[in-house]
Amino acid sequence: MAIAKQLGRNPRTIAQEIVDRAPLADLNAKLDIGGPGFINVRLDDGFLATTLSKATLSQPVEPAETIVVDYSSPNIAKELHVGHLRSTVIGDALVRLFEYVGHTVIRQNHVGDWGTAFGKLIAYVNADQDSSDLTIGGIEKLYVAASQEFETNLDFAEKARNEVIKLQRQDPKTLKTWEHIVQESLEDVQRIYSELDISLKLSDVRGESSFNPVLPQVVKDLENAGLLVESDGAKCVFVDGFQRKDGSPLPMIVQKSDGGYLYHTTDLAALKHRTQELGADRVIYITDSRQIHHFQMLFAVGKRVGYIPKDVSTEHLVFGSVLNKEGEPFRTRGGDNILLRELIEEGVERAFDIVRSKSDHLTDRAQRQVARQVAIGAIKYADLSKNRTNDYRFDWDVMLSLDGNTAPYLQYAHARICSIFTRAKKELSEFLEGEIELQHPSERSLALRLLRFAETLEQCLDERKPHYLCNYLYELTVHFMRFYENCPVLKAQTPKLMDSRLCLCAKTAQVLRVGLENLGISLPLRM
Ligand code: ARG
Repeated sequence: MAIAKQLGRNPRTIAQEIVDRAPLADLNAKLDIGGPGFINVRLDDGFLATTLSKATLSQPVEPAETIVVDYSSPNIAKELHVGHLRSTVIGDALVRLFEYVGHTVIRQNHVGDWGTAFGKLIAYVNADQDSSDLTIGGIEKLYVAASQEFETNLDFAEKARNEVIKLQRQDPKTLKTWEHIVQESLEDVQRIYSELDISLKLSDVRGESSFNPVLPQVVKDLENAGLLVESDGAKCVFVDGFQRKDGSPLPMIVQKSDGGYLYHTTDLAALKHRTQELGADRVIYITDSRQIHHFQMLFAVGKRVGYIPKDVSTEHLVFGSVLNKEGEPFRTRGGDNILLRELIEEGVERAFDIVRSKSDHLTDRAQRQVARQVAIGAIKYADLSKNRTNDYRFDWDVMLSLDGNTAPYLQYAHARICSIFTRAKKELSEFLEGEIELQHPSERSLALRLLRFAETLEQCLDERKPHYLCNYLYELTVHFMRFYENCPVLKAQTPKLMDSRLCLCAKTAQVLRVGLENLGISLPLRM
């Protein structure tokens, strides 16, 4: 219809001309025209069946790139909370998917482990705490107390600022306390990652502190590029197109008059490291939308100072907020951030109740294990299955439901397929290839869905939106269930038909497994 518009001709006539040329004759496809000028293509069953039996899941991408993905990146000395959930979960799905299609991914956990927050903490700890028995919960409480003190006690505020300077100068005592706090916090962060099955490792941490030694060079680079302007003693870069509300030009301050550096400066250093040392073809940052301006400026200055060469792309991916059932910000009753540790605990308890009532054939231990997979899967899937840029509501009943577009529904379908093979005493992996016949319409629609995995992945990565894959997996499962209701597998009329159906089952299980695992969701073999 777009062509018809361009040519100013009747779309149905154009459609007829296309159909007359029989473009898909060698596939045996039937074409007919519908509505104002749609062309319906009906693929031949035989063609579908042979294509599917030979199909591999996906082809490696060309060209493969080196992609640096900066995600999760929490400010530490605080426990991970719901505010950290989306960057962590979405980022982890994207890195797995990028790797799956053949890119080289370098994960970067740009943790906030430096600056004023740490000055306050260290000053507080050094004043009246024995810093050797600090644990993360304790650190967080200390931080709250230190911040209060900072607001009300001028003397203390001075000390805190002084600690920041001592930190920059590598004062041994300050450094020792700092190292202890950072180590304790990072251990806790890693503990939550491993509970959530997040692939970030300690070696992916490249915190703000690690860029401290190179910040003076960043300022020099800006100066050499003729970008640096002094304003009230501060070193700034002005970039066209960035203005304050009153219309005056908005500077990016890279060094304050007291010599201190800022978030921007560290990010410039990190950008340089990523393109010049890590060899990135692409750099992706995942944070909420409050940082849109920061990254716009960073990319603009990065280009001008030469940290972003022409053939390198940078991208800031944003996401919507997590809301509660009522559509308000998701917080505790007291208005505090909900800790991920507590969220996981609650999810596992809730999932355990469900698993216990459904799966009494499993031992208590197996039920616990399944409950964990279901809970983590549900938390991640609820997030990933929504369009990244939209807000979503966190509702345990909906996300743990065994019906609907949820992780447990998909996990359950997968376990069910596995149990068909167990009952038949056959290996699923032996049926991933084999001859397929499509007799029933529900077999045909399942086959069509199975063949669309690769293009779904492509769309998902083109837009960096995992919900396309989630929706696809859900639809696939719905079609599988329809097939399973309509077509006896182990009691099929002939052994050949049984094998064909087992092949459809095996392929469905494979797509579900690969799809979910690449979203960071694991699958129990039995549920
Ligand atoms: N630590 C920052 C925060 O919690 C996010 C860092 C994102 N990455 C970056 N390179 N700036 O807001």
